[in-house]
Amino acid sequence: MNHSVFLDPPFSDDERRRRVYEGQLVVYSPRVSSVELCAFARQMIEEAFSPLDPRTAQHHMEVDCYAELLNRLKPAFIHHPESKARVRALLADLGCDPKNTYFDVPRMRSSTSDGYLTTGIAYAWHPHRDTWYSAPPCQINWWMPIYEIEPDNAMAFHPRYFSRGLANSSSGYDYYEWNQAHRGDHVAQYTKTDPRPLPRPTEPVEMDPQLRLIVPVGGVIVFSAAQLHSSVPNTSGVTRFSTDFRTVHLDDVAAGRGAPNVDSRCTGTTMRDYLRMTDLSRIPEDVVTQYDDRTGTSGRLVYEPGQS
Ligand SMILES: [Fe+2]
Repeated sequence: MNHSVFLDPPFSDDERRRRVYEGQLVVYSPRVSSVELCAFARQMIEEAFSPLDPRTAQHHMEVDCYAELLNRLKPAFIHHPESKARVRALLADLGCDPKNTYFDVPRMRSSTSDGYLTTGIAYAWHPHRDTWYSAPPCQINWWMPIYEIEPDNAMAFHPRYFSRGLANSSSGYDYYEWNQAHRGDHVAQYTKTDPRPLPRPTEPVEMDPQLRLIVPVGGVIVFSAAQLHSSVPNTSGVTRFSTDFRTVHLDDVAAGRGAPNVDSRCTGTTMRDYLRMTDLSRIPEDVVTQYDDRTGTSGRLVYEPGQS
């Protein structure tokens, strides 16, 4: 199967979603709305690390203090009303229909260099699909670097696995149980090892060839939740900061459209996390139940503020 990277395509949102569900990657050049979202994130980061340079602060801080700082900074960004406002502006700018597009709160990610902190609050992601973590097949991911990136601190895609299943441990993952048991402040304590049972491949992954898209600050990478991706082991000497968020379109949710599921076996759904662009309302429960399974009776159904 061929995979393409579309740079600044003239697609409508319908066409873009269709292409993304086929496993294509879409990249947008920086635009005012995306640069503003990154600038807001950068301002929060710089205030938190002041007077240190956030990209090199890891070389001057004890790792426990660093993890604690991130544990305050990340939820503050995630749940800031300004973050949501800027995500909505970006999505509208990129042609999403505000009445039918739902997004989740933007995350802030950090990838430290030289193995300084690769667990807990700054987890270095092994190859995974978000669909192993209860994302629906119609989920679309939007990813942006907050500072300049380079091949040694980027994110990697493994597109050959888009249509090829990989043995993995997603059958042990239930979203509602996860929300209850594994989210919260305690994640910052994992500065050396990470005991959380994150779904992962259970067979060797052919990591190469892999694709690293190096976009400028405010450049936007759009990809399917079913796309296998990972954090590049950071050897750049500086910490990478990025932000990302996810969307679903109500028509696709209702019609069951999306990327093919080649190997995901998790239970529960993230469908209750998304907020409508217009009024921040949730997806109607009668639609959500199409995605619910027998596990919908225990645990915590929704990702809530303060959780990492
Ligand atoms: Fe991911």
